[in-house]
Amino acid sequence: MPAVSPLPISEADSGHRLFSRIRLATPSDVPNIHKLIHQMAVYEHLTHLFSATESDLSANLFSSLPFLSVTVFIVEASPYPFPQNSPHNRNPNYSPVVGVADLEVPVADPERENFKSEGEEDVVVAGYALFFPNFPSFLGKQGLYVEHLFIRECYRRKGLGKMLVSAVAEQAIKMDCCGVNWVVLDWNVNAIRFYEEIGAQIVPGWTSCRLTGEALRASANAT
Ligand SMILES: CC(C)(COP(=O)(O)OP(=O)(O)OC[C@H]1O[C@@H](n2cnc3c(N)ncnc32)[C@H](O)[C@@H]1OP(=O)(O)O)[C@@H](O)C(=O)NCCC(=O)NCCS
Repeated sequence: MPAVSPLPISEADSGHRLFSRIRLATPSDVPNIHKLIHQMAVYEHLTHLFSATESDLSANLFSSLPFLSVTVFIVEASPYPFPQNSPHNRNPNYSPVVGVADLEVPVADPERENFKSEGEEDVVVAGYALFFPNFPSFLGKQGLYVEHLFIRECYRRKGLGKMLVSAVAEQAIKMDCCGVNWVVLDWNVNAIRFYEEIGAQIVPGWTSCRLTGEALRASANAT
């Protein structure tokens, strides 16, 4: 993985630089978020569970202030430095994190037209993290629960996943959280290696449960 260094770097591209930025999602990101969530479902072989529409996301992702409820960090990539006068730099709720990596070969992104970031030339959406506060009650303190962490295939192994987790961890510390947690499918050995690499503890012995559809209704009517 090429090391992602913090900016500022003002000079234009030289060699094969990959500039990256993590920022808060805005409503105009919904079409890209929707495609990314679908890619996540494909990756996890769970498309039979995928029913989210763009309208669902628009209605539910931005209904409260970020970090108080569901929050999406967008990871963007560009061969050029991000503009200083970007409106994202004026977001009162979050200052974007930027980085740069030197690559041996440029990224060939077969989906760059599909994942353009609105309003900024040459910037594409490369991934996302979707998370929300939880409350591990044994610890009596708020935490952050990461529902999804996803980097598009052509941008993997370039340090973006690590940068994304680091941004969530930094936010958790700012919010005085007890930690960040998530689940990973047991066959997803690549993600497990990534999590081990960033120092996460893989906790054995837990089985994930879900109550939906008819079972949900039956349970609701049980008393
Ligand atoms: C898991 C994921 C988020 C990692 O993001 P990434 O940008 O590729 O990871 P990074 O480049 O920051 O990797 C950091 C380090 O983690 C380890 N790592 C990452 N991916 C790995 C892999 N496929 N195999 C082995 N180690 C890996 C390496 O040590 C890597 O450093 P290196 O490249 O210098 O060897 C990304 O692969 C992804 O989106 N996968 C598909 C979706 C997914 O599995 N999400 C998690 C679901 S729980």
